[in-house]
Amino acid sequence: MKIAEILDGKKIAADIRAELAAEVARMKQRGITPGLGVVLVGDDPASHSYVTAKEQACREIGMYSDDNRLPASASQQEVLALVERLNNDPCVHGILVQLPLPRHLNESEVLLAVRPEKDVDGFHPVNVGRMVIGEPAYWPCTPHGVLQILARSGVKTDGAHVVVVGRSNIVGKPLANLLLQKNALGNATVTVCHTGTRDLGSFTRQADILIVAAGRPRMITADMVREGAVVIDVGVNRMSDASRKSGFRLVGDVDFDTVRLKASKITPVPGGVGPMTITMLLYNTVEAARRLAGAKDERPNAPASKPAEAEKTNT
Ligand SMILES: NC(=O)c1ccc[n+]([C@@H]2O[C@H](COP(=O)([O-])OP(=O)(O)OC[C@H]3O[C@@H](n4cnc5c(N)ncnc54)[C@H](OP(=O)(O)O)[C@@H]3O)[C@@H](O)[C@H]2O)c1
Repeated sequence: MKIAEILDGKKIAADIRAELAAEVARMKQRGITPGLGVVLVGDDPASHSYVTAKEQACREIGMYSDDNRLPASASQQEVLALVERLNNDPCVHGILVQLPLPRHLNESEVLLAVRPEKDVDGFHPVNVGRMVIGEPAYWPCTPHGVLQILARSGVKTDGAHVVVVGRSNIVGKPLANLLLQKNALGNATVTVCHTGTRDLGSFTRQADILIVAAGRPRMITADMVREGAVVIDVGVNRMSDASRKSGFRLVGDVDFDTVRLKASKITPVPGGVGPMTITMLLYNTVEAARRLAGAKDERPNAPASKPAEAEKTNT
């Protein structure tokens, strides 16, 4: 019986981080230290651990991290003032506002306040619009991470039928948009499924590449996957597990154990898409530093594929 090749997001992320560390070292010789300004408001433990991981990742590749933590009681004006300070700080090239913000704050107003040139999360409407029309833009980190996994694993999207399950603004929609751009990282025929889709399996079974970002544990079963398909599982779901000290374990949106007997390649959870998200945040911040320093970008956006078209249209 053939078992799918595991697409190792941890290894791909480590490779990209090593490339970025070398790039940061070169930039430092020219007097530029890429810097990430972090805004964290409140006490949400998941947000705290996520932000700590991002800050640590910055330091590991030699970047500067300007950490700012505000209490849960912070006012809209205080948060906006902090964003404005970071907008105007020449040592800060990218700004990360950790979401969700406490409920009394106006999240969209805060995201709009980030200068698009420093919007390394790719959530500002200016970046979203530029991405959709194929202009240079910061691509959102998780979708960009998925494209890097595909490119660096030799999976061609050009001409493939990609089915994306999920249409959120941070994963499904930008991913679908990127995949249909006319360049070597895209050029796919894209179908997007959601809760309004009738007979989901009839669509997922047509996929050469199936990407699932629904937040529903193990919803994609083997009968929903075409023999030999490439399966990318973006989902991260906590399932209670009394045998673990933490009391839970992480599972994806794909029933990994059965689908891996049918797919040709598959990402695990954890260790697939997850490690790529922070990595692409670092990537965007290094890119922002290059741009704000006025450096000519000689790197292709996707080092694994170096597409001439992509160089014209991507970040
Ligand atoms: N690995 C990472 O770094 C990373 C990053 C971001 C997110 N994630 C994970 O990815 C998953 C999705 O995140 P998200 O922020 O995109 O979630 P989200 O905002 O909740 O969106 C989920 C999407 O999936 C669709 N959906 C839900 N159940 C479905 C079903 N039964 N059939 C078809 N479509 C269904 C929803 O459709 P409707 O629009 O119709 O409601 C929605 O578009 C989550 O598990 C999240 O934790 C991982």
